[in-house]
Formats: sequence, C-alpha cells, structure tokens
Amino acid sequence: MFKFTEEQIMIRDMVREFTKNEVEPRDKWMDENGFDWEVHKKLCEAGLMGIHLPEQYGGGGGDAVMSEIVINEIAKGSASVALFLDADWLAADMIYVHGSEEQKNRYLPLAAEGKIFAFGLTESNAGSDAAAIKSVAVKQPDGSYVLNGGKAWITNSGVADYYLIMAKTDPEAGAKGISVFIVPKDAEGLTVGKFEHKMGMCGSATCELSFDNIKLPADALVGKEGAGFKIAMMALDGARISIGAIASGLAQHAMEVAKNYANERVTFGKPIAKYQGVAFKFADMAAKIRAIDLMVWDTAQMKSEGQRHTVEAAMLKLMSSKWCCEICDECIQVLGGNGYSREFHVERFYRDAKLLEIGEGTSEIQRMVISGAVLAK
Ligand code: CAA
Repeated sequence: MFKFTEEQIMIRDMVREFTKNEVEPRDKWMDENGFDWEVHKKLCEAGLMGIHLPEQYGGGGGDAVMSEIVINEIAKGSASVALFLDADWLAADMIYVHGSEEQKNRYLPLAAEGKIFAFGLTESNAGSDAAAIKSVAVKQPDGSYVLNGGKAWITNSGVADYYLIMAKTDPEAGAKGISVFIVPKDAEGLTVGKFEHKMGMCGSATCELSFDNIKLPADALVGKEGAGFKIAMMALDGARISIGAIASGLAQHAMEVAKNYANERVTFGKPIAKYQGVAFKFADMAAKIRAIDLMVWDTAQMKSEGQRHTVEAAMLKLMSSKWCCEICDECIQVLGGNGYSREFHVERFYRDAKLLEIGEGTSEIQRMVISGAVLAK
C-alpha cells in the first residue's frame, strides 16, 4: 500500500492550493487563447518548474513520486498546464540522466529557473515508428554536426527555449543510428511553424519545427552517438507515468463538476444523484480513479528506486487514458445538454482527455509493449 510522507503531503497541499488559485481559473482562457505566459510566470515564482531536479542544480530535489504529485495536482486545475510540465520535464530530464557534468551545470539551473524545454522525436512521417525518423545530423571533420530535417507535434514548441532533438547520425543503422542534440530556440536555421489548431489541450503549445543546415557544436550531443533511441524510450517510460498522473487529475476534476451538478440538479422531484442510474456512474468513476492512482504511485516509486518500468508505465498509460476518456464522457452524460455546453467545462475535459490516448505513444503502441513482454518466452 502506498503512503505519502509528511513532506509529500505538504507539497501536495501547497500545489493543490496553487492550482485552485492560479491554474484552474485560467484553464478556460487557455482553451480559447492558447499557452498562458502568466501561468508560466506563477509556476516559476512558486519554484515548481524545477521541483523534479536536484538541489545542486537549483531544483527542488523531488523524486519521481514528488514530481507526479505535482503533475497530478496541477491536472486537477488544467490538463494543459500539467502536459506542459510533463513535456518540459521529459526533455530536461534527458540532460539530467544522460548529459555530461558540463551540460548539467549549464542547462539544469536554467530549467530550474523556468527556461522551457521540449522533446523532439516525432516527425510528420514517423510517430509510432520512432526509429524511422528522417532528420539527420552529419558529423563534420571538426566534431561539430549539421542538422537537417524537421519535427511535428512537438509539445512546448513555439514557447520552448531549448529543444532536445532526436536525429539520425547513422541513417543505415536503424534504431542504433539515432542521437540526441540540444538545439537552442535561436539556432540559425531553426524555423518554428504556426501553432496547431487542436481538439483539446489548447493551453499547451504544439508546432512543427524545420531544420535547415543548423550548425551544432560537438557538445550539443547528449549521451553517446547512436544511443538516442534508447535515451528517448527511457525518457518516455518516465513521461508515461505523468500521463497517468494527468489522467487521474483530469478525471477527478470532471467528476467534481459532475458530482456538484448531480447533487443540485432536480428531476421528478429529487436530485439526479439519488437515481441509481446516475449514482452508479460515480461508483465506476471513483473505482477507476483509485486504480489509476495506485498504478501512478507504484510506477513512480519504481522509477524513484531506479527500477526499469517500461511495461508498468505502458500498462498505466493504456488504462488511465482509456478510463479518463470514459469518465469525462460519463460526466458529460450526467450534465446532459449542459454537459455539451462550453459553459459547464466538462466538454473541454473530454477534448483534453483524448490526447492522453495518443500522445507519448498511442494506446496501440502501449499494447505492443505490454503484449511483447507478456508473450515473451
Ligand atoms: N528502455 C530502454 N531500451 C529500450 C526501450 C526502453 N523503454 N524500448 C526499446 N529499447 C531498446 C531495445 O531494447 C532495443 O535495444 P537492442 O537493439 O540493444 O536490443 C532498441 O531499443 C530497439 O527497440 P525495439 O526493437 O523494440 O524498437 P522498435 O523500433 O520495434 O520500437 C516501440 C519499439 C516501442 C514501438 C517504439 O518505437 C515506441 O515506443 N514508439 C512510440 C514512440 C512514441 O511514444 N512517440 C511519441 C513521442 S511524443 C512526442 O514526440 C511529442 C512530445 O512533444 C512529447
């Protein structure tokens, strides 16, 4: 059974309060207007941008459990802001886990103070089949690289200060020919496309990137040349826990709205919460949320202890995203016609939830990972 420490409870309560005051009131605005720099400023002021990084780099010293507590609480006010943090941490953590000491000293204090990072793997023709990316970084005689190609669907693009870009350094070597590079937003030859007009998660920025002969110094390489695919997969294993934490927070937010509505809305002389047909929906929702939570804390604990958690994170992402979509759908149903209206919020939660079944590896990819492990001899 998972039990939070006193420190974790303290941080949880602080972030819960922060979310209520600074994040939730902006969620509808972000849905209509996109990324909110005011919320970013507040996250920096509260010291939350770097809570996942060690204190020696200016961070808050939180482990994976602490990080997921923060993501989970933020998602109770805005799934978009939680997704923004997830993508930022996914990218910055690649430097923390695989970077040189010099890279850590240079970039992690910037991440802790609020500079934004983005993870660039997906391309317009290579999403699920990540090893099929076409972006290429050609090594020069002086050890530097020249990067060409492009990326699509990159969370935090357009607002990021640094991009962690996966590119082929040996196009003939498949997954073993991919490397990771740090590309600053002002690199000559980097073009950021227009913001995608998305179904949901509108408060998180998403653009295309194109690379035209970007010159990268030798020390832009993170980890060993050719290790980029594994570095990216390991990073995604961690980020998929965050998708579970977002799913739980978003589902709880939706259920709260639906619960208040069901207790107040009267039909045929009594609140609709008194009808078993409505009440049982809440039983199913609450049970699913508890199951998600237990998987989130258990998998985060595995990550904190340095255990490999590829399959557990895939299971968590698969089920939490599915249940979150189901819960948001049921919450719309509880609100009836009002649920379909933008005024009552739950339709936005439903649109946000759908991304969880797609981003950071579709549900089908999670099933490939899980079934591969289950059926292995
Ligand atoms: N941890 C460590 N190593 C791993 C690993 C993991 N989780 N997953 C794979 N590897 C290793 C394998 O062990 C193998 O190593 P060896 O050759 O030494 O044995 C190597 O990587 C290649 O593995 P596979 O043969 O399994 O690779 P594959 O090409 O068959 O792909 C896949 C496997 C699981 C389907 C993978 O392609 C995948 O996860 N695809 C989905 C990618 C994804 O999630 N994309 C979304 C990115 S999100 C984004 O870009 C947007 C954003 O802003 C966040």
